[in-house]
Amino acid sequence: MPFDIAENYDQYFASQLYDQRYPRPNPSCLALIMDEMRQQGNRILDFGCGNGRYTAPLLERTDATLVAYDISPEAIRELSQRQASHIESGRLQPVLGDLTALRQATESSKRFDLAIMMFGVLGHIFPQTLRQEALTTLRDLLRPGGRLIVTVPNAGRRFLKEQAVARRRGLEPGDILYRRRANDRTINMYYHLYTLEEFQQELEQTGFHLVRLRAESVLPESGVVKSMPLHWLDRLLIPVTPLRYAYGFLAVVET
Ligand SMILES: C[S@@+](CC[C@H](N)C(=O)[O-])C[C@H]1O[C@@H](n2cnc3c(N)ncnc32)[C@H](O)[C@@H]1O
Repeated sequence: MPFDIAENYDQYFASQLYDQRYPRPNPSCLALIMDEMRQQGNRILDFGCGNGRYTAPLLERTDATLVAYDISPEAIRELSQRQASHIESGRLQPVLGDLTALRQATESSKRFDLAIMMFGVLGHIFPQTLRQEALTTLRDLLRPGGRLIVTVPNAGRRFLKEQAVARRRGLEPGDILYRRRANDRTINMYYHLYTLEEFQQELEQTGFHLVRLRAESVLPESGVVKSMPLHWLDRLLIPVTPLRYAYGFLAVVET
């Protein structure tokens, strides 16, 4: 990888561009997570938590205890500042670093009932062997019968121009490099975009069983989280739209 993903996410969060584009969680994904929590239990791992778009409402609306993990120091700094009272009360443990840091930080505690990996976190992990390692780690951190909710970007819908460029440059199928402008800075990003088949295969190869597969959204995430009418339209579209047209795929899988 020609650049450091954590450093670039640091800039994305520090510039506040991330908060501007995605000021809230996707309401239907949040409802699904809370529904799973009611069935699975209250010990939750938010893997790739960012600055807490999902962690924050889960702390506010439930009595869950959470571990919020990310590789971006800025994401963890912002989350820790915003959720200081929950860290103090012991309901939230922020974890920064690589997978070893995550394993060490959680080894002496109870295994998780539910893990979430929301809005393309898996797709930002490079290369494929590390994505597999992340999924295997998650499987090991969950209790037997525990569940993971994971979403990935659909290669059939997203970054079509960037995919054509990536193919010409000889990148692995599904891999792209792209940029975002934040103030006067360029943020470099890597993404692996998924076909439905590849997504299912990757989860099954790691020993997860598929419980449910649906669209994360049909309309672009930024619109769905900023506009209530777009959110309601998206809710109507999700059950009637063929999955291959989804903006992102959402899987619920079980160990
Ligand atoms: C699109 S953001 C999603 C953040 C949050 N889940 C949300 O829905 O707002 C992707 C996040 O994945 C994190 N990330 C990227 N690579 C990662 C890795 N290898 N392990 C853990 N987190 C990673 C980034 O730092 C960033 O916070």
